[in-house]
Amino acid sequence: MDNPFKGSDVVSVLDFSRRDLELLFEYADRAQRHAGSKLDALRGKVVALAFFEPSTRTRFSFEVAAKRLGADVISVSGEEATSVAKGESLADTVRMLDAYSDLIVVRHRYEGAAKLAAEIAESPVVNGGDGWQHHPTQAMIDLYTVLKLFGTIDGLNYALLGDLRYGRAIVSFLYGLTRFRPGAVYLVSPEPLRPRREVLAKLGELGFKCEATCSLEPIIGEVDVLYVSRVQKERFPDPAEYERLRGSYVVNLRTLSRAKPGLKVLHPLPRVDEIAHEVDGTPHAAYFYQASLGVPVRMALLSLISGVEI
Ligand code: NCD
Repeated sequence: MDNPFKGSDVVSVLDFSRRDLELLFEYADRAQRHAGSKLDALRGKVVALAFFEPSTRTRFSFEVAAKRLGADVISVSGEEATSVAKGESLADTVRMLDAYSDLIVVRHRYEGAAKLAAEIAESPVVNGGDGWQHHPTQAMIDLYTVLKLFGTIDGLNYALLGDLRYGRAIVSFLYGLTRFRPGAVYLVSPEPLRPRREVLAKLGELGFKCEATCSLEPIIGEVDVLYVSRVQKERFPDPAEYERLRGSYVVNLRTLSRAKPGLKVLHPLPRVDEIAHEVDGTPHAAYFYQASLGVPVRMALLSLISGVEI
């Protein structure tokens, strides 16, 4: 079988076609069937987790995924813990990790860091989030979550609510949707958090139809998937602007009172205050389920990149 992931870097979800993603989802199904058992598909391999920016889910689920496949894991968390704190460049750090491992996952606060790492390293590099730009593996998990919940990604109506300007997860999900045939796609955010020009240009280039709006209320009744993200505090050049925008949208029981009974709420997490805790116990809440799929999807990705069957 043709495996386009084999030996490849994963920098953006836009590097992959619908068929590629469907192959990944098939592998994620297989990984789920092996739940609870340890495989030796990656025995003898070393996966390096280079997380120069905070992470909970991405880092831990990559680590669990690699270990469940039988790989060894080396990891760095935070610049303070590495020689980057002594002034070593990202390029030199990547060269070292390349010498010690077979696959490198990089998270960094700078846009383009994963691409740079991919250019330097011989081993495949997976982007675990670069600044405000891309978070391809999160998009893969989010699309897979929709597929598991609805049996399809096509034909559903989507509302993406949140920080579309600085949120790499929400924008990567949007990029992922361009590979499918969704129904309506609404981009809901306060004016200052609308997508950046280059994102809109990309969507235009792909002929992808979506509609920007400031309010969820008029459309909530037609939405199947409500994807929410936090305001990305750490990316704001001006803390006062963040203060002005925080809390500007919130999903609570009142918001959902006019929603379709089958509406599902997704969120890449961490949540701050944009989804009220009262939503957690409703059948709409799918974000913890979504987080749990991080392991099978990352197992799928690691095995496909390594060219091994699971
Ligand atoms: C996201 C990220 O780091 O971009 N989190 C994650 O990986 N699940 C979203 C966020 O931080 O808001």
